[in-house]
Amino acid sequence: IRSEVLAAVAAAGDLGALDTVRVLALGKKGNVTGLMKTLGTLAPEQRKEFGARVNQLKSEIEAALEARKATLGAAALAAKLAAEKVDVSLPVRPEGQGTLHPIGQVMDELAAIFGEMGFTWAEGPDIEDDWHNFSALNIPPDHPARQMQDTFYLPSRADGTPMVLRTHTSPVQARTMLNKAVQQMLANDGSLRIIVPGRTFRIDSDATHTPMFHQVEGLVIDRTTHMGHLKGCLVDFCRAFFEVDDLPLRFRPSYFPFTEPSAEVDIGCSWKDGELRIGTGDSWLEILGSGMVHPNVIANCGLDPAVYQGFAFGMGIDRIAMLKYGIPDLRSFFDSDLRWLRHYGFSA
Ligand code: PHE
Repeated sequence: IRSEVLAAVAAAGDLGALDTVRVLALGKKGNVTGLMKTLGTLAPEQRKEFGARVNQLKSEIEAALEARKATLGAAALAAKLAAEKVDVSLPVRPEGQGTLHPIGQVMDELAAIFGEMGFTWAEGPDIEDDWHNFSALNIPPDHPARQMQDTFYLPSRADGTPMVLRTHTSPVQARTMLNKAVQQMLANDGSLRIIVPGRTFRIDSDATHTPMFHQVEGLVIDRTTHMGHLKGCLVDFCRAFFEVDDLPLRFRPSYFPFTEPSAEVDIGCSWKDGELRIGTGDSWLEILGSGMVHPNVIANCGLDPAVYQGFAFGMGIDRIAMLKYGIPDLRSFFDSDLRWLRHYGFSA
């Protein structure tokens, strides 16, 4: 039995075969186990010696099984390692690399510039109720500004609230001032500074207007901010964004229901050989609306206009992106033409 079993152990080619050998020898019906069972048929004086020899055989087989198992295990591991080897020196497989859309890139750029001035990024819903989009901003239902804004009206909410696609990012001014945590922060003498980059919607479509476009709102509220801060902030922003240190800027008196006084800002530019140049020449391009937040708006948002004041502005992101990167047609932003995106897109 010994030589037979040991030969079988040595011949076992893998762990499965080895286990079969173990069961045949040491299992319940194995031949070594069978030897043990014959113990009872022996004369008492023979049992001790026979039993000892069978036990000896058993441990010998067990040791052989263990050794063979270790060998086979190591061989299996080595085979697996060899099969799964990764050649780290091979070049990587080429992967399709996307780019940032110029609008997203410009949002990141302006967030970085305003971020240095202490502004944080805020957002609000694209689908807005009539109150936040108009009434809170001092635009009552019969106000002509409602027609001016070419609003997309949506079906009213179940409770009768009229809904619109927001026509500007200004409703987020109201949403922010109404926020209890913001009011608490202001009561503790804090200063509110947010920018609100996002989508806006108006019924309009030609080379310079698309029904969906982008704005960035800015809002500063505290107890002391005045028109001089507005001017300094926007001058600094425009010079940083367009990367022209002496960029000419013009603050033009204007009107918005939610600011008083109001100003629109133009940047100096010129046309040369059919190309637009920013920072030189005798032409002006309007890029934003701004003003001191109207006391009615501050009151509508649950703050005391005798205590709090500040400024707001709204800028067309698509417009400033076109100017900065020389993109001639606004509509190309939304065509999703891969060739255009590869040309004007920014590597992430
Ligand atoms: N909401 C105005 C617009 O869409 C821009 C603006 C914002 C003007 C904030 C003044 C203050 O035209």
